[in-house]
Amino acid sequence: MNILVTGGAGYIGTHAVVELLDSGHNVCVVDNFCNSSRISLARVQDITGKSVRLYEGDICEFDFMAEVFEKNDIDVVIHFAGLKAVGESVLKPLIYYKNNVEGTISLLRAMNSAGVKKIIFSSSSTVYGEAVMPVSEKSPRGNPTNPYASTKKIVEDILLQISQTDPAWSVGILRYFNPIGAHKSGLIGESPQGIPNNLLPYLCKVQLGQLPFLTVFGNDYPTKDGTGVRDYIHVLDLAKGHTASLDFISKTTGYYVWNLGTGVGYSVLDIIKSFEKISAVHIPFRFSARRPGDIASCWSTTEKAEIELNWKAINTLDDMISDTLNWLRLNPVGYN
Ligand code: NAD
Ligand code: UD1
Repeated sequence: MNILVTGGAGYIGTHAVVELLDSGHNVCVVDNFCNSSRISLARVQDITGKSVRLYEGDICEFDFMAEVFEKNDIDVVIHFAGLKAVGESVLKPLIYYKNNVEGTISLLRAMNSAGVKKIIFSSSSTVYGEAVMPVSEKSPRGNPTNPYASTKKIVEDILLQISQTDPAWSVGILRYFNPIGAHKSGLIGESPQGIPNNLLPYLCKVQLGQLPFLTVFGNDYPTKDGTGVRDYIHVLDLAKGHTASLDFISKTTGYYVWNLGTGVGYSVLDIIKSFEKISAVHIPFRFSARRPGDIASCWSTTEKAEIELNWKAINTLDDMISDTLNWLRLNPVGYN
């Protein structure tokens, strides 16, 4: 099939594009490189030996998007493009609503004009908020605690309403848990700009000696060791979840939601221990107060994706960490 991948130069997008090319699909990427590098797509082509058609531009620009659809006979869109930093979204809410919501509306208008009505959207476990664990696709969505989370909820709603109004649409909502890890080749991985907010990228900087210690946000949560528990999932498993959902939605119509997680929660201390074991480097850390907006625990059920998509995450926590370390060893400053 001919797949348009928005945000295909980013962390998850590059891994998904490798999987799509390896599965025999033709891939066209739209990216404005606001949080990525052209090098990542060159690496994707090195890994797969296949080429990607790149359109550099902003999904918010309707005319640009319409032209991409005119020039390519697209079957399905996989929509990763968006801004994702929770803290930044609190400081710059309008930029987040413009990019993530207006950008999606522009994309959907261009799809409508071109008669392309199949889309997979990158949502997040953040839409569940403070829920009873584990969360399943039937769990109610919570109240968003920041603009980033709001944008995910709003886009989910827009896609639901479109599919209800026009039954020709086929929509797959993928709610990711905590993606970590990197491609086994060490050629592509997560390359955050500045001081990272997320746990694994921060640990990487500490391991490299670029930051002195990790701050563990909270040791008084009602969890096994008091630190926050999350469902970390290997980005390669996540990428396979996209090809599995692509197979599903390409054959049907309607609105479908799948959680992409492993069903297992690990605490911050579990992650530090595994990181130290695999890297053989001591990780200094200090406990501090809880981070505002954080929840104690979040992990997923896995049955729906297993049954409907025949997909299950297979990589272990040690795999995720050793692949992250391999990427870090080969690219200590990311793509820079
Ligand atoms: P990323 O920042 O690495 O990739 C996003 C890509 O989209 C980047 O290449 C960026 O340049 C591009 N982009 C952003 N706005 C654009 C625009 N207006 N026009 C064109 N390109 C644009 O992020 P990622 O981690 O790969 O995440 C991909 C998607 O998955 C995002 O929508 C994110 O919200 C969602 N998600 C990510 C996580 C995570 O932990 N990484 C978790 C849940 C959901
Ligand atoms: C965060 C976002 C979430 C987004 C997800 C993408 C917040 C509040 N939530 O989730 O919306 O979908 O990233 O992956 O930002 N931790 C530390 N020290 C650190 C960094 C993190 O102790 O320096 C802890 C956190 O308190 C949490 C765990 O590590 O318990 C994971 O944190 P993180 O990687 O930031 O992911 P989430 O908070 O789950």
